[in-house]
Amino acid sequence: MPVISAPHDFNEGGLFVDLESIFECPLYLKCEGFNFAGSIKLKAANEMVESAERDGVLTPDSILVESSSGNLGVALSMIAASKGYRFLCVTDSRCNLSTRLLMEALGSQVHIVADLDANGGFLGTRIEYVRALCASDNRYVWLSQYTNAGNWRAHYRTTGPEIAHHFPRLDVLFVGAGTAGTLMGCARYFRQWHRPVRVVAVDSVGSVAFGGKPGRRMIPGLGMSMVPPLLDESFVDEVIRVEEADTIRTCHRMARCGFLFGGSTGTVVSGATDWLARHDTRGITAVAIAPDLGERYLDTIYQTNWLQDLYGDHILDSERMSATSRRAKPTSPAPEHRPRP
Ligand SMILES: Cc1ncc(COP(=O)(O)O)c(C=O)c1O
Repeated sequence: MPVISAPHDFNEGGLFVDLESIFECPLYLKCEGFNFAGSIKLKAANEMVESAERDGVLTPDSILVESSSGNLGVALSMIAASKGYRFLCVTDSRCNLSTRLLMEALGSQVHIVADLDANGGFLGTRIEYVRALCASDNRYVWLSQYTNAGNWRAHYRTTGPEIAHHFPRLDVLFVGAGTAGTLMGCARYFRQWHRPVRVVAVDSVGSVAFGGKPGRRMIPGLGMSMVPPLLDESFVDEVIRVEEADTIRTCHRMARCGFLFGGSTGTVVSGATDWLARHDTRGITAVAIAPDLGERYLDTIYQTNWLQDLYGDHILDSERMSATSRRAKPTSPAPEHRPRP
């Protein structure tokens, strides 16, 4: 029975969903949303704050400042509230409303930038704002998730070993990339593993993280409008890119089966199931990392008006058709999970 006195002391690291009955392919989903920050970014936030405290960079009168599409902002808000630091999150107009309200409820200040950068994203504008703040007052401390080694180290120490512990015969790992912290921590860990693991990075169309063409991205979390400084592509075996429409259909497909996941998870699962459909999967062990849950996306991915305004009236048509055919054909549990007679 875990008993905690600080919110960041709890994180469920051993929960996996078997997606075989939903997508008819062998894929286990490691769920990272079950903590008080509601996403995988709690791990990076914890590691970066603790190392700044150890190095004496953070002091009681420091004001933490960070650029975030939202989830790291929530995690830092929670840690700052618990430890008594002030925190200012610099985000942009694509940050979900509920994410912004959460940060404010935790006592943080939120600044929203609205000007696009040269790559059609907001990252450049957010970073410029953070730099100007830090130059104006030396109480501001910017941990910089884009360059901070604590970001990938958190996953090298926790996420990688948690997967390896449950899947010692892992063949393929699908990891979404934003700052590339999760990707680099897991990839570095499995490079030293006792057998080869294929590391597949999942990016969103419109992101330039792996050299793609810049384009509109409305779903926060994955993808970047610059090459992530933490990224070392020599650790990555393959990169796949997912259209936002496919992210949305995948989220809805899982929701229709009772699993309400967020946009980053929809992107990773869409990329992973597509990859698995194109490969011989006999005997394969595949794991994808689900960074978030769905409640923060109720007013976007799960709201009909938002979907139709941005992606057209028929965005979910194919998903409705496959839901109908699934209802007509009940699925049975995977053999190893069938209840024993
Ligand atoms: C929900 C969510 N998923 C995934 C990511 C990307 O993870 P990473 O920054 O470790 O690449 C982010 C980044 O902010 C995120 O908020």
